[in-house]
This record gives sequence, structure tokens and C-alpha cells, in this order.
Amino acid sequence: MNIVLTGMMGTGKSIVGKKLARKLNMSYVDTDEVIEKEAGCSINEIFAGDGEKKFRIIEKKAVKYVSLLNNYVISTGGGVVKYAENMDELEKNAVIICLTADPDTIYKRTKKYINRPLLKVDDPEKEIEKLLKQREKFYSRCDLMIDTSNKKVNEITGDIVKYIGSIKKA
Ligand code: S3P
Repeated sequence: MNIVLTGMMGTGKSIVGKKLARKLNMSYVDTDEVIEKEAGCSINEIFAGDGEKKFRIIEKKAVKYVSLLNNYVISTGGGVVKYAENMDELEKNAVIICLTADPDTIYKRTKKYINRPLLKVDDPEKEIEKLLKQREKFYSRCDLMIDTSNKKVNEITGDIVKYIGSIKKA
């Protein structure tokens, strides 16, 4: 079985995912890294060159690929949830956990990085609010939601380990 971490940019998927994998003795993979390897360039370059549409096509391939793995913690890009076929693939062999945070926290966590093409807009705070609202409905397909706004990485991994333990017992 795999554990998928999804949710908006800046909610802590990568840092939590790496820590969780170490804690549970699982391997770790990030769909954005699979995409960059496949495309031979950065996410920024894909968006700038071929646009978001092309990025989503490569992303779907990456999701298919990681869904076939086993005993992995998989961090996905924040937009993966928007496409039912991505969720269908991931659900086959994974518990899907959605990390969330309030818009202000997401803004503070993402503003220092330039690797988020969707937030390269005049008003990134407004864009974060818009994306969160647009994506809200897709998060209902996830098995568990964790608000990471005021939580330390250790607490979040602890919550996930507890949850995984509870479903194994059931
Ligand atoms: C995206 C999130 C990014 C990356 C791409 C698009 C999104 O990943 O896949 O920039 O649509 O939310 P992170 O969520 O890891 O930042």
C-alpha cells in the first residue's frame, strides 16, 4: 500500500512526506520530480514553454507511474486532485491524505520560492484564495484532511501514523 499526500501548494506535502517515509520505513517519491525527469526540464520551463495543458498531460502520466509503485509515500502536485482519472489511479493502492492550510499561511510559505508558476501573478494572495475555493470540492475524495497551518511536521506525521494504524485495525 502507498500513502498519497495531496493538497494545495505550501501545505507541507514534501517535508511531511519525506519525514513520514523515514518514520514508516517506506520509499518516497514526488510527482513533480517524476515530471521534471520525464520532461528533462523544470516545472517552470514546462509552463513557460508548452503551458499548463501540456503540464497536466505529463502529470497524468506521472500519476499513472507512481500509482503502480508499492510501499511508497507519494507527494503529488497540488493540482492532481482536479482530475478524476488521477484520483482513480491513486486510489487503487493508496490511502489519500489531503494537507490544507489557511491562505495566509500558504502565502507566507510560498512567497520565498519562485518555482510555483501558478502563483507568479500580480496578486498571489488572491490567487491562493481562488485556487483553494476552486479545489475545495475535489478534496472530498481524500480519506483524511489535516490542517497544517499551526502544526509542526512531527505532529502531522504523528497524526498520519495514527490514522494509518486505525484503518489497519478496522
Ligand atoms: C501545482 C502545484 C505544484 C506543481 C505545479 C502546479 C498546482 O506542486 O505541480 O506548479 O496546480 O497546484 P506543489 O503543490 O508541490 O507546489
